[in-house]
Amino acid sequence: MLWIFRYFLACVSFTNLVTAEDQCRIEINIRGMALKGFVFKRMTVTAPHNCDFLCEREISCQSYNFNRKEQICELNNRTKDARPENFRSDPAWFYIRRLNGRAPLGSIPELPARSCREIKASEGKDTVSNKYWLDPSGTGKAVLVYCDMNLEGKSSLRHR
Ligand SMILES: *[C@@H]1O[C@H](CO)[C@@H](O)[C@H](O)[C@H]1NC(C)=O
Repeated sequence: MLWIFRYFLACVSFTNLVTAEDQCRIEINIRGMALKGFVFKRMTVTAPHNCDFLCEREISCQSYNFNRKEQICELNNRTKDARPENFRSDPAWFYIRRLNGRAPLGSIPELPARSCREIKASEGKDTVSNKYWLDPSGTGKAVLVYCDMNLEGKSSLRHR
């Protein structure tokens, strides 16, 4: 909530300098970075805000990369938080996490995680122990698995 409030403030205070749309974007995007290896859809657009709409239309969209020069959106099915090792420097791009209606990783069968640990990395340290959708070997078949998030996100799969 606090974060949203700050974001709003930043948008308001910069509105007179540049267009509101551009400044709000600067506040939430990460310039010169892109998430590699989780692009499930790629397309050219006429303006960056089109990527928001495209991402919000896809249930598994978690974030996107945008190429300013070539006006390309790359929709990712992970956030940088889930896969920090895949978050790389690339000057032509910027990265944005999905703002509205993002499904938490592992919360739906269309968006299975590789592991409980990945869910915890994606959703934060306060992620609760629960059943989550996993596809540990990436076969395309998601299974519901209990994740004990207190045990650093170890899945019950390992104990059985
Ligand atoms: C995520 O996207 C990659 C392609 O980058 C694909 O191989 C993988 O199956 C997708 N995973 C999910 C859960 O959609």
